[in-house]
Amino acid sequence: MQLTTAQLSDFDRDGFVILPELFSATEVAAIRGELPALFAETTDANIVEKAGGAVRTAMGLHRRNVLFARLVRHPRLVAPARQIAGPDLYVQQVKVNVKAAFDGEAWQWHYDFATHHHDDGVPAPLALNLHIFLDDVVPYNGPLYFIPGSHKGGAAPAWHDTASTSYPLWVVERETVADLVARGGITPALGKAGTVLIFCDTLVHGSPNNMSPWDRAIFSLILNPVGNAQTRFARPEFKHHTDFSAVEALADDCLHSEIT
Ligand code: SIN
Ligand code: MN
Repeated sequence: MQLTTAQLSDFDRDGFVILPELFSATEVAAIRGELPALFAETTDANIVEKAGGAVRTAMGLHRRNVLFARLVRHPRLVAPARQIAGPDLYVQQVKVNVKAAFDGEAWQWHYDFATHHHDDGVPAPLALNLHIFLDDVVPYNGPLYFIPGSHKGGAAPAWHDTASTSYPLWVVERETVADLVARGGITPALGKAGTVLIFCDTLVHGSPNNMSPWDRAIFSLILNPVGNAQTRFARPEFKHHTDFSAVEALADDCLHSEIT
């Protein structure tokens, strides 16, 4: 799977690209089928919401589950990532952000590089975040909000927010967000289950609480060039994996051996 010239130029202009229903309903069902057992595990890698105790994010999944070990090498993720970020990419972070019906809490306005840089010493904003929707994402169940073009000014000022949610995050000041939105507006990332998002490391994004009765689980894989690996090792392995070998893509039907 290769991105077209038009998709590459959208990515360059907006900082993200949306690829509708790139994974089939069967593949999404297989991925979802692994989640209840993973969420039930007692591990620091399952981080729960501040209120209510529902799983907010389940991390390090390729180390915990065979199907996720295949998914991080899926060519429909790895090939477009290589087109944008170069041939040698390591698996930096692997998670499912759950955002449970009624209980899923917000992700504040942020860009991923702020946390990778300040907490992990990643030198440059070269990583890519690749998402697969595991539920239909609609306006009401806490979609990601992107500020198109917000990556163009480089890394915006950020501060470390350890209080708003259960997940410490480097976030962007409201004034900066207001300026960026005045220029780029806000685009919600919506689509059917199986839809893929690819977005860059300095794109400002966030997502509101899920007040709806519908879950909104999203798989997230962050790939980072091997030559841009972390230089600080204070966070747990599940927040930034330390195997810096370049990921090799599997065959396009690599999930199917787990499905049948
Ligand atoms: C979310 O799951 O809504 C936020 C995801 C992200 O920040 O990558
Ligand atoms: Mn993010």
